[in-house]
Amino acid sequence: MYPQIFSAAKEVDQAFLIILGFSVFILVVVTVVMLWFLWRYNHRRNPVAADIRGNLWAEIIWTVLPTIIVLGLFWTGWSSFKAMRTIPEGAMEVLVEGRMWSWKFTYANGKTSPELVAPLDTPVRLTLSSRDVIHSFYIPAMRVKWDVVPGMETSVWIQSDSLGEYDIFCAEYCGLKHADMITKLKVVEADEFEAWLTGTPEEVAGESRGLALMEEFGCFDCHAMDGTDDVAPPLNDMAGKERLLILPDGAKRTLRADDKYLRASIMDPGAELVDGFDDEMPPYSDELSEEDLGAIVSFLLGKDEGGKDLSKAGHPGRQMAEVEGCLKCHSTDGTTTGRAPTWKGLYGAEVKVYRFSKKETVIADEAYLRQSIRYSSTWVVEGYVDSMPLYDDLNEETLEGLISFIKSLGGEH
Ligand code: CUA
Repeated sequence: MYPQIFSAAKEVDQAFLIILGFSVFILVVVTVVMLWFLWRYNHRRNPVAADIRGNLWAEIIWTVLPTIIVLGLFWTGWSSFKAMRTIPEGAMEVLVEGRMWSWKFTYANGKTSPELVAPLDTPVRLTLSSRDVIHSFYIPAMRVKWDVVPGMETSVWIQSDSLGEYDIFCAEYCGLKHADMITKLKVVEADEFEAWLTGTPEEVAGESRGLALMEEFGCFDCHAMDGTDDVAPPLNDMAGKERLLILPDGAKRTLRADDKYLRASIMDPGAELVDGFDDEMPPYSDELSEEDLGAIVSFLLGKDEGGKDLSKAGHPGRQMAEVEGCLKCHSTDGTTTGRAPTWKGLYGAEVKVYRFSKKETVIADEAYLRQSIRYSSTWVVEGYVDSMPLYDDLNEETLEGLISFIKSLGGEH
């Protein structure tokens, strides 16, 4: 059988073997008895058939025995199912988001990853959600398979007793690239996990930030980088490449792939299609920040090193904000998430706030930012509820990094 690394699911294999063993046993018994009857009651050996009218004992046996067998089989299945559905208290939390056609894992500190990294022998609660259609989150080595349904959050848990890499699949047909909705579970030692979780991804700040983002968003599930056609056009050597486009009115025109074209086709890919390809790509307008988009476009145009957008995206304070989870609620591009005000243009701006339920207007200077980050309840910005966690244990270095990052996002006029 496939390797099994989840101790709570050991009984699943046991239940499977018991049920299989019983089924085979009954198949053999029934077949043997049937053959024996064929031989023994053949009309030459037994010309006159017996006329049997009822047998109480036979009826009791064939009612009670199968009932006991079926209940026993149910019990083996039920007890293993229960062990897998009882999530231990204090399990590490990881959010799992499925989309066509990739997985994204978000850790409690806001770190996101396209692969699931988990420490050895530690229970992990996975909260599953979908951005689009029904997927099914499947780790064969864990015997865990659970549907991921849009508009619904469900949870499973895992715990690995062996190091190594294991497959994660989508087990529910979800469209063209369903079979490519594959990623890895990486089980590592606890200290290695801690280093990975808290480590600032240095390469992400540098030249390959655009590349890392594209991997995270699953772009390469459909776009090849070696010039071949997949379900979507290849993306290598984009700079200056000419593309034959089909416009919404059906007309065709040829266009050079530049910054403007790439931005438009990422944000609203359906508007103008490359000749020969279908309108398959989801729009990314609601999930890519201006900086992320800039990093991807710079990468595609091959000017990642020293590109202007990148130096800004690589602001050390941005990494702190990502690690602290600030950017889960605060945008950096002027859009609002509904949970918290954007950071763009915040520094030095006038902010309407409530202080002890009294309305006032304050200037978002350094003192304001400092206080608001550490003790967000001091002022509550108009239009928002006081939902930000306390950051009073933030160290001075991080606090300054965050403030300097907010300053870099403009404002002060
Ligand atoms: Cu997602 Cu199949």
